[in-house]
Amino acid sequence: MKGKFYGIGVGPGDPDLLTLKAVKVLNKADVIICPKGKEEEDSIALDIAKEHIHEKAVIKTLLFPMVHCKETLKKHWQENTSIIEEDLKAEKQVVFLTLGDALLYSTYIYMMESLKQQGYEVETISGITSFSATASTVNLPLAKGKETLTVLPLTKDGESLERLLPAVDNLVILKVSHNPKVLAEKLKQYNVENNFVMISKCGHDDEIITRDIQVLEEGNVPYLSTVIVKKGGF
Ligand SMILES: C[S@@+](CC[C@H](N)C(=O)[O-])C[C@H]1O[C@@H](n2cnc3c(N)ncnc32)[C@H](O)[C@@H]1O
Repeated sequence: MKGKFYGIGVGPGDPDLLTLKAVKVLNKADVIICPKGKEEEDSIALDIAKEHIHEKAVIKTLLFPMVHCKETLKKHWQENTSIIEEDLKAEKQVVFLTLGDALLYSTYIYMMESLKQQGYEVETISGITSFSATASTVNLPLAKGKETLTVLPLTKDGESLERLLPAVDNLVILKVSHNPKVLAEKLKQYNVENNFVMISKCGHDDEIITRDIQVLEEGNVPYLSTVIVKKGGF
């Protein structure tokens, strides 16, 4: 059998949110690539998917540091792509695990693009995004009728937030930990400080749900945090 590269979105935390298709692909995988952001950390994606991984699969945890330096990132992407390529050349079925959906702000995207370009066969299995799962956790509609829904990653300077907050009906904000204070400031500026909910570590044992602006103002927000803003109110 020819080697094939799969990207699997494992959802944000609850192992029951893996799709049946993801589980089927995991069942035939030879190698499972698990990304992690820091040397000393475990892979969260592996932790979520582990109960669906068979014992013969070889698990490789690769470091994808969360830094802004483009050269450092590129160096790690190239090294990690080479590791994956070795297995593909040996005709292995290689699965790359990602949090949430594989094609939304994920390091899988860079691996996939590079391997596709080199002619390897690639298949992406969609996963449940963090914002779908967080909305379900609090039974909150993401958008109704003609309302708009915008998804943005919070940046340190809050530029996209400043631009989009006045223009949208509903807003999903990922990577809130990059600058929760600026988020609190903008929510207050546009008088929507009572129209948000933040879900941290959705589906994990230590999940936290808050609508308290002070939590954002204090600035100590876990990396796995998503904010949903409903301009029209809850
Ligand atoms: C690099 S992005 C990955 C997004 C992911 N691919 C998805 O489909 O949701 C990481 C961000 O996703 C959100 N996220 C991922 N898992 C989460 C969870 N369990 N609870 C809350 N937010 C989560 C957070 O905003 C986090 O900063």
